[in-house]
Amino acid sequence: MEIDVFTLFPDAFDWFERQRHVANAIAHGHRLGYVNYRDHTPLGAGQVDDTPFGGGAGMVLRVDVVEAALRERYGVDPIELPATRRVIALTPGGRLLDDALVDELAAEDALTLLSGRYEGFDQRVLDHFTSEEVSIGRYVLAGGELAAMVVCDAVLRKLPGALGHEHSALEESFSKALEGAPEYPHYTRPSDFRGWTVPEVLLSGHHGRIRDWRVAQSRERAARAARAADPPPG
Ligand code: ADE
Repeated sequence: MEIDVFTLFPDAFDWFERQRHVANAIAHGHRLGYVNYRDHTPLGAGQVDDTPFGGGAGMVLRVDVVEAALRERYGVDPIELPATRRVIALTPGGRLLDDALVDELAAEDALTLLSGRYEGFDQRVLDHFTSEEVSIGRYVLAGGELAAMVVCDAVLRKLPGALGHEHSALEESFSKALEGAPEYPHYTRPSDFRGWTVPEVLLSGHHGRIRDWRVAQSRERAARAARAADPPPG
């Protein structure tokens, strides 16, 4: 998998790259690259944004700047890109990132992530150069870098070799193995802390009973989350 992140702040990813699962993924041959819009701007003084037509607060990332950066990186007219790879703009109003979308993205050979800043992208970037918009939640971040990191984190940890052992990502919250439900609770030593004991079944060594308990717990958590998301009236 090859991920290109377009950003005004590539340094923001330094910490991210040092995280073990990311470093593991890179050591396994996956690639994480960065393109700084500012390095490719056709405008003077490193300009990348402009005031919105029609007025209003904030600045908008210019379409000619994004075009130049994409053209430089891929050597083609960027209107051709969405037909050949997923070019994803990180926006608050995009398709909400969930485990199914992460699986979809992890199955790709290459991804392009466009981080916006300020008020976001000139609409023509979204209309002509991207295949989709992805949101990490219905709130507005100051920029798309954190959102791009969230996407990279969730995708990279699904790739073989990123986590310590192969099964870690198979049976986890929202996975098919758990019918899309949140994961069951985990406990480790000490088995009794301040009188808070670990459920007996987990100490039983009985794999069948442990499995049943975990599935039941996972379903119970899903039901609880559904009630919290949609509380009864009154
Ligand atoms: N850019 C700003 N806010 C965002 C969000 N919530 N998700 C994705 N990209 C964003």
